[in-house]
Amino acid sequence: MCGIIGYTGSLPCRDLLIEGLRRLEYRGYDSAGIALAEQDHLTVVRRVGKVQVLADAVASAPSCARTGIAHTRWATHGQPTEANAHPHLDCSGTIAVVHNGIVENHAALRRVLEANGHRFRSETDSEVLAHLVEHFYGDEVPLEQAVAQALREVEGTYGLAVISSREAEKIVAGRRGSPLLVTLGTHEAVVTSDVHAVLRPHQRVVYLRDGEVATITPTTLQVRELDGTEITPAVQELNLEALRAEKGDWPHFMLKEIHEQPQAIANTLRGRLDLEDGMPHLGGLRDVERELRRARRIVLVACGTSWHAALVGKYLIEEFAGIPADVDYASEFRYRNPVLDERTLVVAISQSGETADTIAALREARRKGALVIGICNVAGSTIARETDAGIFTHAGPEIGVASTKAFTCQLTVLTLFALLLGRQRRLSQSLGKRILRELQSLPELVEETLSVVAGVQELVPEFTGVNNCLYLGRGYNYPVALEGALKLKELSYIHAEGYPAAEMKHGPIALIDENMPVVVVAPRDEIREKILSNVQEIRARRGRVFAVGNAADDELAAQSEQLLVVPEAPHYLMPVLTVIPLQLLAYYVAVARGKDVDQPRNLAKSVTVE
Ligand code: M6R
Repeated sequence: MCGIIGYTGSLPCRDLLIEGLRRLEYRGYDSAGIALAEQDHLTVVRRVGKVQVLADAVASAPSCARTGIAHTRWATHGQPTEANAHPHLDCSGTIAVVHNGIVENHAALRRVLEANGHRFRSETDSEVLAHLVEHFYGDEVPLEQAVAQALREVEGTYGLAVISSREAEKIVAGRRGSPLLVTLGTHEAVVTSDVHAVLRPHQRVVYLRDGEVATITPTTLQVRELDGTEITPAVQELNLEALRAEKGDWPHFMLKEIHEQPQAIANTLRGRLDLEDGMPHLGGLRDVERELRRARRIVLVACGTSWHAALVGKYLIEEFAGIPADVDYASEFRYRNPVLDERTLVVAISQSGETADTIAALREARRKGALVIGICNVAGSTIARETDAGIFTHAGPEIGVASTKAFTCQLTVLTLFALLLGRQRRLSQSLGKRILRELQSLPELVEETLSVVAGVQELVPEFTGVNNCLYLGRGYNYPVALEGALKLKELSYIHAEGYPAAEMKHGPIALIDENMPVVVVAPRDEIREKILSNVQEIRARRGRVFAVGNAADDELAAQSEQLLVVPEAPHYLMPVLTVIPLQLLAYYVAVARGKDVDQPRNLAKSVTVE
């Protein structure tokens, strides 16, 4: 989704900003632009398409500008055109603005501004910001004051950065609902919406909070509220090394991240298994232990792949702890009137920690008095900061838009969390010890599972030419079927549906014929017999079954075109393994169809608008 990068300091910044934009590419975007400030002059270049197109366009124009802002746009209001790309300018070409988020009252503001003589050049909601700032800006009014006045008129969300050719050594940044941070170096500063884009070796960071406006110069940072009240910014340490993600020799980040799963899960588990007590150690929950013991109900909220992890979480929590658990799409939860009380625990799950709907859901839950726990991958993210307590997944940076290692690490964390709740209630110490021992072997099992690659590659020709696919699973593997289908559709643009296998006969069975592959996830567990009946029903209609199951399952092998084998494991850990062949299948099918695996069309890594 949209990304912001800005620099002010002692270095010429054009190429730095282009490099920053490259680091934002993984988020998904459709156009990009840059504005460079020199005394009394702004240079603005915008292009549709990849950052490389913009880089080529600016390459021929030498620039010594030491202050600038740049943006990758993911279209919301208006098509991906050059005119709609950011930065947007005011009428006089003095002010440039880059904006993430949505100005909800843009139409009303635009009408007023147009009536006052402002000329608009784009269809975007964001352009009103440039004209609004222009409206308040004057000889007596510095840029930060004009920005604050403008933002007081805005309804909606924003993370924005503004420069002016009249104050060419300054960036003004503001945040409401869309992340923004400032990193500080010696005689320079970077402002960005995504810590991955920080392009200088800075060790200090300030995460702006909602309603704050920062005035950034190479040597100073001043933060105020919209009414002008000055705030002492909380400067934190920044470990950029830990955030760096390089593709190395891998063809795509996604493939690298799939293969990183054994290590990522080992990192998730590190220091958290107390085999003596049969208790997981979750330091981030220590302060709320009493509330966890009192919880009578759990609601898990998330979006996309994290929502699938939440579905597995429900099974785990109900099985281990006997606490009723519900799973809600964050986007639905936030606009319903959810019934919550102080003994309801809300668990917000998110890789990025910046998903707008999940943030809104957790805020609503807190307003209603529920305790909110975050399960999230990115330290310093909004969800990590706004939840009452939490557990980091420690999956490491995930750059591929399709979530893979973050998902399996979320499942690992949810297993630990359910075990903790269970041990607080009905699970014996010996059972706790057994589960922890089984968890300990998970990285090895995942490693073993990755040897399924060759089998998956053989399967690819069966999928590359099809238009539709069905994924079926039951119990713990029903969310895996949903996740497999999501992976295939988001990467290869093949329509794919995930279903609980038994639901097939209530409708989707009408679709089955020899042209639609059906992927069945059926490891050897208590419910396998049932799913074998579903497989028979598919075959009776000339459907072609591709199965994920365990070795030496002759019956399943006989009923399917191909059986992808995953190792034996306790049923509650199975989703971590069965999802891997499906991640690989989606990856190799997308590659075979020539799709952009790491940045699929229309998608964004973190969805910061609702
Ligand atoms: O960062 P989050 O986990 O909150 O993101 C939620 C979804 O946007 C995300 O999982 C999305 O569905 C991915 N593209 C799935 O691969």
